Amino acid sequence: MKQHQRSHELRQKLLDDAIGMNAELAGGSWWHSIDLGGGVVTPGVHSLGELQQHYERLGLPEDLNGKRLLDIGCWDGFYSFAAEKHGAQVTSVDCWHPSNFFKAKELLQSQAEFHELSVYDVSQARLGSFDYVLFLGVLYHLRHPLLALEQVCEVTREFAVIESHVIDNLYEAERPLMEFYEFDELGGQYDNWWGPNLECMAQMARAAGFARVELIQREDTRGVLRAHRRWDDRPETLSAHLRIHKVLNAVTVARHFPRHGRHAFIAMWVAGLPKTAKRWDVRVEVGGFGIHPTYVGQPGDPRDAALMQINAPVPPGLELGTVPVRIWHAGELSNDFEIEIVEGTQW
Ligand SMILES: C[S@@+](CC[C@H](N)C(=O)[O-])C[C@H]1O[C@@H](n2cnc3c(N)ncnc32)[C@H](O)[C@@H]1O
Repeated sequence: MKQHQRSHELRQKLLDDAIGMNAELAGGSWWHSIDLGGGVVTPGVHSLGELQQHYERLGLPEDLNGKRLLDIGCWDGFYSFAAEKHGAQVTSVDCWHPSNFFKAKELLQSQAEFHELSVYDVSQARLGSFDYVLFLGVLYHLRHPLLALEQVCEVTREFAVIESHVIDNLYEAERPLMEFYEFDELGGQYDNWWGPNLECMAQMARAAGFARVELIQREDTRGVLRAHRRWDDRPETLSAHLRIHKVLNAVTVARHFPRHGRHAFIAMWVAGLPKTAKRWDVRVEVGGFGIHPTYVGQPGDPRDAALMQINAPVPPGLELGTVPVRIWHAGELSNDFEIEIVEGTQW
């Protein structure tokens, strides 16, 4: 009963704010316009129509029942509450305690679970993993963007949507570029650090461990990518020729692989791969996650000259224990080769 009364009072107060009766709260303190029902929409800087359109562009499935979604840098929570409406079990993270999020959560009777965390502390150990991760408008606020993307990748099972300020309007370049802001050069805000171009965002997402990246929106100074953990072209049937013979840790030469660390590399020796095969044409999958090979070519040891060598990073977020490694190339799918993932870090 008490809860009901509090919700009623809060709704009335928000309604007052929305129509400008409380100037202090009405004047721009909401970033997101959120439809709270009963004709109350929070007076956000971004309109409801604009945010709904952005949500649709993310490419999330219409039905999110049974799916876990993580919204990193949720602020007032528009995207968290919208995904929950579609059936998702939502976890929302921000590096502070955004009071508007809690007002809206209460009025919407949302079950979204909030964690006051920095993206650097987002991990599988802390939060588990998620089918979908939203990482919208946060990248350029970070001093360590690649480190953050590694954490985003570690907790993503299907895809993450990454949205950022970009500098493609300033520099015509196909090369990856990122501009640094020591003080408040970007928008007069001291907490803006980096401006990447879209190519740089895409390459960083892959370097963080995502298999493939799709550009879904490009505006003058904003860009949106969908970064996938899985390839979309795995052949159905096994090849009669393509065969993984041996797999070793490329750095330690051991047969096991630490779960963490960007210096944890898998080296595999493969028969049946043409000598002309290129890095961009070879797909590697470890424990179900796709990863880009860093090397495809002749093995160093002349005794292995009949084979080809492929090196690839250990993808973030693997389960401990035995996982299969497989590759494919030009429609030919290899055998599964089992490797052992152990706790540990290789930097
Ligand atoms: C520009 S707002 C974007 C809000 C929302 N995601 C959107 O796209 O409308 C940036 C958000 O990221 C949060 N943020 C900044 N640094 C962060 C960090 N290190 N970890 C988690 N969130 C952070 C801010 O508090 C803020 O809520």
